[in-house]
Amino acid sequence: MSAPGQPALRLLLVVAVALVDADGRVLVSERPAGKQLAGLWEFPGGKVEPGERPEGTLIRELAEELGIRVEEPCLAPLTFASHAYPDFHLLMPLYVCRRWTGTPRSMEGQALKWVRPRALRDLAMPPADAPLIPFLIDLLEV
Ligand code: C5P
Repeated sequence: MSAPGQPALRLLLVVAVALVDADGRVLVSERPAGKQLAGLWEFPGGKVEPGERPEGTLIRELAEELGIRVEEPCLAPLTFASHAYPDFHLLMPLYVCRRWTGTPRSMEGQALKWVRPRALRDLAMPPADAPLIPFLIDLLEV
């Protein structure tokens, strides 16, 4: 809640997904130059548009950004991030997905890499994404 006299922060709903390959590695994508937080590594995803369900957003974004097709039952919710940026409050559910059709490739010129969940700790990620890492380590590292 905002303090008395303070304007409420705009709420932004973004969905993200950890794509997990057969070796237990997770795909991260570099935010391109010119965007806010450029150069930081993030989980694929994007803004939920009015009228969309979060799973529908992910299916759309994964096709647009990575050229893969995901069936809705393959998207398992894991946790969510909640982070106050200076100009908006971000709510970001994180899903896990282990099955898709096609090979993820950069459709928008963004750099991609597969990393072990533990190695996510060494990556420069947006402040909203970093608190999600322990959940992935718990889920995926044996
Ligand atoms: O990706 P997009 O620029 O549409 O996301 C809107 C905002 O949400 C970003 O400017 C960034 O501040 C935040 N964001 C984030 N972590 C992500 C994706 C977006 O903090 N994985």
